[in-house]
Amino acid sequence: MSGTSTDGISACLVEIQPPSPRARHAVPLRVEVLSHETYPYEPSLRDNILEIIHPSTMNPTGLTKRLAWMNILLGYRLAEAAKAMAKKASLPLDNVDLIGSHGHTFFHCPEPRPIPSLRSRARGGSTTGRRGGINLSTTLQLGEPSVIAHETGVTTVADFRMADVAAGGSGAPLVPYVDYLLFQDPVKGIALQNIGGIANVTFLPPSGGLDDIIAFDTGPGNMIIDRIIWHITRGGQSFDEGGRLAQEGRVNEKLLSQLMGHPFLQKPPPKSTGREEFGHSFADNLYSRTDPGDALSLLATVTAFTARSIAEGYKRFIIPHHPLHEVFLYGGGVRNHTLVRFLKEYLPSVPVRSIEELGIPTQAKEPMNFAVLAYEAMAGHPANVPSATGARDRVILGKIVPGRNWKDLI
Ligand SMILES: Nc1ncnc2c1ncn2[C@@H]1O[C@H](COP(=O)(O)OP(=O)(O)O)[C@@H](O)[C@H]1O
Ligand SMILES: [Mg+2]
Repeated sequence: MSGTSTDGISACLVEIQPPSPRARHAVPLRVEVLSHETYPYEPSLRDNILEIIHPSTMNPTGLTKRLAWMNILLGYRLAEAAKAMAKKASLPLDNVDLIGSHGHTFFHCPEPRPIPSLRSRARGGSTTGRRGGINLSTTLQLGEPSVIAHETGVTTVADFRMADVAAGGSGAPLVPYVDYLLFQDPVKGIALQNIGGIANVTFLPPSGGLDDIIAFDTGPGNMIIDRIIWHITRGGQSFDEGGRLAQEGRVNEKLLSQLMGHPFLQKPPPKSTGREEFGHSFADNLYSRTDPGDALSLLATVTAFTARSIAEGYKRFIIPHHPLHEVFLYGGGVRNHTLVRFLKEYLPSVPVRSIEELGIPTQAKEPMNFAVLAYEAMAGHPANVPSATGARDRVILGKIVPGRNWKDLI
């Protein structure tokens, strides 16, 4: 998994056991994390990826060519990460059955939008716009799975989001199904909150079914914080280690309430977001309007904004309908202690814990999701949750690239 933070590749090695037919309370799957690691991108690769996502007019090489090269390059990097992961766990690659690879998101447009250049001549499309143009949603993840399968020899499942898009969904979030399989509780309402570049929640009502899941992106995760730190340190730091600098600033309450008026936060689920809404231009705009002497206050404010948008998401869309007993956090944002402290302040009546308390390392959860989704693809099980993505149908997710172990699998 290479998340929107663009910090590197998070990998994990898991053992997945099918449900035991003799179990009294059948858990749908048993998943054990054997090893995990994040392999950071070197700054030049990170800059290159971000420059494709936020293109400037400075680079003369066409965007399509750069995307095509990046797809292959990331394929090699993802393969290296898979090999390094197996090595770390002292497991020969021959003993790995399957790789699930999310790749890196280069574009995410969850709501159908008109395609400007096609407006006048368009016919068909999933939704026809008012003026006869086509409105389409789309999402683009790269990191070529053919390269991964070739380099490792292991059958690889990738590009999980597209089947949901084809079924009329936004392709995100995909984690709710995995959360449902692993963490559903008969008596407790549980929220699993990822704080990556973007923050997303899965809420599992007590003993609810798949249709009862509430899952959505709550808004920004570390994305704005990372960019503001980058400005403050003039490119020297890409994140606020431990949330230490934010701790030194005072929250600007007026700015915070302005930020809380962002239309994305008002929108009811299903909804998802990305760099298009909370990426560089959002943060750069805030920074350019800030006095240099108030930079730490801005950092504290955007940190509080992330926490408050998570809490408000629960207060608006979960708590009025269901009991919320516990919140389990994961993703890199868990290490930002100021962010977690703000979140606890904004949610005084709900215990906020780390997912480590459920036996899963915080950095392993996201890559683990895609291992489970790969397993489910091979099992032929639909794995999207229409109430979360807006899809019309339940569909099997992922594209399968056979590796040298293919015949052993089928
Ligand atoms: N020690 C830390 N202190 C504060 N923030 C951290 C720390 N380690 C990681 N992070 C934050 O977590 C982000 C990476 O989290 P991750 O879960 O990998 O997100 P994504 O899935 O978007 O890549 C980093 O960009 C950074 O903002
Ligand atoms: Mg990451």
